[in-house]
Amino acid sequence: MAASRTALIAAALRMTHRSDDDSPPVLDDPFAEVLLGADAAALAAVVRELPRQALLVLRSTIVGRSRVAEDRLRAVAAAGPARYVSLGAGLDSVAWRHTDLDLEVVEIDQPDSAADKLRRVRAAGLGIPGNWRQLPCDLTTEPLADVLKRAAPGDGGRATVISWLGVTQYLTPDAVGASLAGLATAPSGTEIVLTTLIPDADVAADDLESVRLVASIVEAGGEPWLTRLTRRATGDLITGSGLRPAGEVGAPHLVEPLFAGRADGLVANAVELVTVARVP
Ligand SMILES: C[S@@+](CC[C@H](N)C(=O)[O-])C[C@H]1O[C@@H](n2cnc3c(N)ncnc32)[C@H](O)[C@@H]1O
Repeated sequence: MAASRTALIAAALRMTHRSDDDSPPVLDDPFAEVLLGADAAALAAVVRELPRQALLVLRSTIVGRSRVAEDRLRAVAAAGPARYVSLGAGLDSVAWRHTDLDLEVVEIDQPDSAADKLRRVRAAGLGIPGNWRQLPCDLTTEPLADVLKRAAPGDGGRATVISWLGVTQYLTPDAVGASLAGLATAPSGTEIVLTTLIPDADVAADDLESVRLVASIVEAGGEPWLTRLTRRATGDLITGSGLRPAGEVGAPHLVEPLFAGRADGLVANAVELVTVARVP
């Protein structure tokens, strides 16, 4: 499996959110540009060439989902030492940004993406934070439960937040189910912020052309969408795996307030559902 290009595009959307959208940003991620390094300009051009509506849908999805996960992380870490597990991490930069928290950061990603990330960290001269580590894992072939045990050896009393953002659509339905079963083995109380991509039939008419365009771009790049889930199917999968949704599946109130009053065209959308679940 090659290193993920969609991970780079997500980072490019976070980068251009800072430069091209109104202030304050929904998510302020200066390390997106740092980690993209020599690829930053070319990837900025790729996202800026998207039709306006597709760019807005994509950018609000990407910055909104990360902001929800990071707000949950900050809320949990405010109560004591915490662990953040980024599942399908891509160019996640939580370890370099939330340095005021007592945090352990574990990034799980398929091996080539993880290696590419490490190369970028080194090329940027960022140094390896002492509280950061990577656990390469291909979710299609390796049991996530085993990897999560390595992520939290002995648990150590840290409350855990797992983000699983923009990944389920790139896995087969079987791998999504197996991953959820693995997530359910995490310590009781672990919070999971995950996203699922809804089927075309459920996409708002104004967004459909944009969603189809993005589908064709990612497929051409070798990362086709393999799993699309309705709100109901997402809820059934979560509960069927032994996890408990915390509130409504794909709750609009998680993302809508983040975009209130913006004049730059970024609005909450429900193309990717953001759901918080807990290990009972
Ligand atoms: C669209 S990127 C999202 C990255 C990051 N979560 C974000 O929001 O920016 C999808 C991520 O899923 C990872 N991924 C895809 N298939 C995977 C698999 N079989 N096992 C582990 N990770 C996988 C990719 O390597 C990539 O980092």
